[in-house]
Amino acid sequence: MTEKTQSRCPTGITGLDNMLGGGLPRGRTILVSGSCGTGKTTLALQFLMDGISKYNEPGIYVTLEQSGDEIRKDALQFGWDLPKLEAERKLLIIDTSLSKIGIKDFITTLPISPTTSFSLLPDEFDLNKIVGLTVEAARKLGARRIVVDSLPALDVLFKETHDIRRALVNLNYEFKASNLTTILIGETEDEDGVTKIPVADYISDGVILLKNNEALDMRTIRIRKMRTAKHTLKPQTYEITPKGIEIKEAKSIL
Ligand SMILES: Nc1ncnc2c1ncn2[C@@H]1O[C@H](COP(=O)(O)OP(=O)(O)OP(=O)(O)O)[C@@H](O)[C@H]1O
Ligand SMILES: [Mg+2]
Repeated sequence: MTEKTQSRCPTGITGLDNMLGGGLPRGRTILVSGSCGTGKTTLALQFLMDGISKYNEPGIYVTLEQSGDEIRKDALQFGWDLPKLEAERKLLIIDTSLSKIGIKDFITTLPISPTTSFSLLPDEFDLNKIVGLTVEAARKLGARRIVVDSLPALDVLFKETHDIRRALVNLNYEFKASNLTTILIGETEDEDGVTKIPVADYISDGVILLKNNEALDMRTIRIRKMRTAKHTLKPQTYEITPKGIEIKEAKSIL
């Protein structure tokens, strides 16, 4: 393996890896942002699935919004059997989803030392604690890839914007210190692609934007920034297929 390939973390989406000159910068934090239904969750799951199947790199999925079961069900549509990978200790889902608000008899299984998927009650929500547990679980599983889906949920979970900023700076620091390659999922409200939690654009080492163009019945992906990487700025069209995200015509830039 050359130094170049070691410094890259392929997403498994060939066209995107071509746009990135081989993959995401390893050990960095990348924001994947777009409006609703653009395929952010699919892209992030594909990144974890490919890490497991092709590179033997376990991964952790932290869901702040959709429940773990919903994610497992949706993933199956693309042929990704998450429970099997969880049983094999290659994937861990940390479910802190808001969907549990109001479920009083929900039994908390907060592990002191996590090695399997678990859930937290909303009352227990503490992003710094979740980051700490994720790092610990990553060490035990040998995980190299992390997904946090999605940041707008933090708006509901934090009272003050500066608390979100502080927690995200800590997350970024801790994940990087453990050399974890992280996809943070953000959301954009409008066509110009400004993320709802703007601090995420600045703390992230890279920003990938997904866009639906309803009028042209077309989806486009573009890389807004990617520290340490030569990449194309040109938007490419993509489709969501039963196998996941497929980018059209993105030739390698190397
Ligand atoms: N099996 C499938 N085949 C093709 N396209 C699909 C399939 N399943 C979902 N899609 C498309 O993917 C979109 C949802 O993808 P995904 O959940 O990854 O988006 P998202 O950006 O995470 O959405 P949200 O903002 O709601 O979280 C759907 O709106 C649909 O257009
Ligand atoms: Mg999603």
